[in-house]
Amino acid sequence: MVVSFPFIPVPEESWSLLVFFGRFHPLLLHFPIVLVLLTLTFEGLSIYQKWRGNQHSKLFDFSVLIGPLLLISAVTTLITVVGGFLLFQSGEYGGQLIKQHLWGGVLLMIALNSAAFFYWWPNRQVKKMIQAPYQGFLFLAGALVIITSHLGGTITHGQDFLTEHMPSLRPDKPSPVELKEPAELVVFEDLIMPIMEDKCQSCHNQFKTKGGLVLTSYTSLMKGGDSEKLLVVANDPLQSELFHRLILPLEDDERMPPSEKPQLEPFEIDLFEWWIQTGGEEKMVVGNEPSDTLTAILDQYLPNLYQSERLKMRQQNELEALTKELTSLGEDIGLVIEQDQEYQGFFTVSMQMPPALITNNSIEKLRSYAPLFSKISLPGADIDDDALFTVGKMTNLRDLYLPKTRVTGEGLTYLKDLGLLENINLSNSELSNTGILNLVHLPEVKTVYVWGAETDSVMLQSLRNHLPETKILEEEGDYF
Ligand code: HEC
Repeated sequence: MVVSFPFIPVPEESWSLLVFFGRFHPLLLHFPIVLVLLTLTFEGLSIYQKWRGNQHSKLFDFSVLIGPLLLISAVTTLITVVGGFLLFQSGEYGGQLIKQHLWGGVLLMIALNSAAFFYWWPNRQVKKMIQAPYQGFLFLAGALVIITSHLGGTITHGQDFLTEHMPSLRPDKPSPVELKEPAELVVFEDLIMPIMEDKCQSCHNQFKTKGGLVLTSYTSLMKGGDSEKLLVVANDPLQSELFHRLILPLEDDERMPPSEKPQLEPFEIDLFEWWIQTGGEEKMVVGNEPSDTLTAILDQYLPNLYQSERLKMRQQNELEALTKELTSLGEDIGLVIEQDQEYQGFFTVSMQMPPALITNNSIEKLRSYAPLFSKISLPGADIDDDALFTVGKMTNLRDLYLPKTRVTGEGLTYLKDLGLLENINLSNSELSNTGILNLVHLPEVKTVYVWGAETDSVMLQSLRNHLPETKILEEEGDYF
């Protein structure tokens, strides 16, 4: 069972609850780390005492602690690995690192179970022979704990977590693109990459590898994705999956970026086409005599690029200051406020784990930063419709998850100016028949979850007729 573990299918319908448990993974994982290392330490001390041979003058018999510790280690590791696996299956994370981390966890569980198996071997006669495999597996488990938790740390804190605060030699490194003469610009690095950074990498990066594709370097681009099609076929844009995806009709499922996301400008698409047409090489530069096609593209592209590079530099500094400010505001009121990984420059608000008491007042405190929030997720918060008044000021809000709150829907009218709002989750809230009617003020919203609400099906049906573009689902929906 243990070996086949990562491949157990999970039924779709119990999803959000399982993901909810999965979310505890970052909290739980501290137990096995401490326990395994503690078991190992006691085992080490016990070996040391035996080695000294002085059985009678033992200060303490460590072996009485090892059995129980081994058992709790094995159990907490199992729970942690299951939680991590659920997070993995939720699809919010992906990529090589995550897989290695998951396998690390699974192997750790196997090593621990094997150690326990030999430890409790019933036959006393062979106990001496069992000692070696038991200790071997225990030490292996110790090594795996260290490797796995390091990988996990890298995932949550990023590659350069340990080194990011090292003083930089050139603190105000100017943007490379701006310093270069147009003739020196490297087509891929300086022109194609910034477009992908802006419009592709939110879904195609090391951690979120949609379609198995990473678009953060030339090498990863060339490696391609799940379809195993060639992304770049030199001199043949139409055969190149990369270009092909950009020119599919907007409503095509395979169109990139997907239709609901910011699209490429026509001249940006032209640039991809031109680059592949001329060979799609990594090091190609613009050169002194760019062709007319390229000149025409650059005339439109460069002003944009320079401006956005300058803006990015300025924004980066401001964003760092804002992040600090908002993180500490969040800590004050018991919420987690973080940068939105998907929408650069915006912030997400979610519950702490374990949750703090969140009231209408807590939400009111977010008011002076209202336009900065893209996602609010407050499952189980002690808030009602008054909180929606503050939410109504969050003009860039896209996702609003308020399951298990006291919201009845009366306050939904406050949200009528939120033009970007896409998803609302009010499952298991106190949503009422009159409250839900206010959805007619929000025709732009795409999905509303109303599972467990006190609304009747006639009302839901007439709302659905009234709002053909909105999916009103009697499902629990995502909580985060
Ligand atoms: C909102 C998320 C999102 C964004 C943004 C996005 N993609 Fe994708 N991409 C996906 C998903 C999901 C898939 C997998 C489904 C599919 O193949 O259509 C995918 C698959 C692909 C594939 C196919 C990989 C393979 O071999 O199967 C290519 C190529 C691709 N994307 C290119 C791009 C490019 C280029 C951009 C930016 C211009 C981009 N994507 C932006 C979500 C995104």
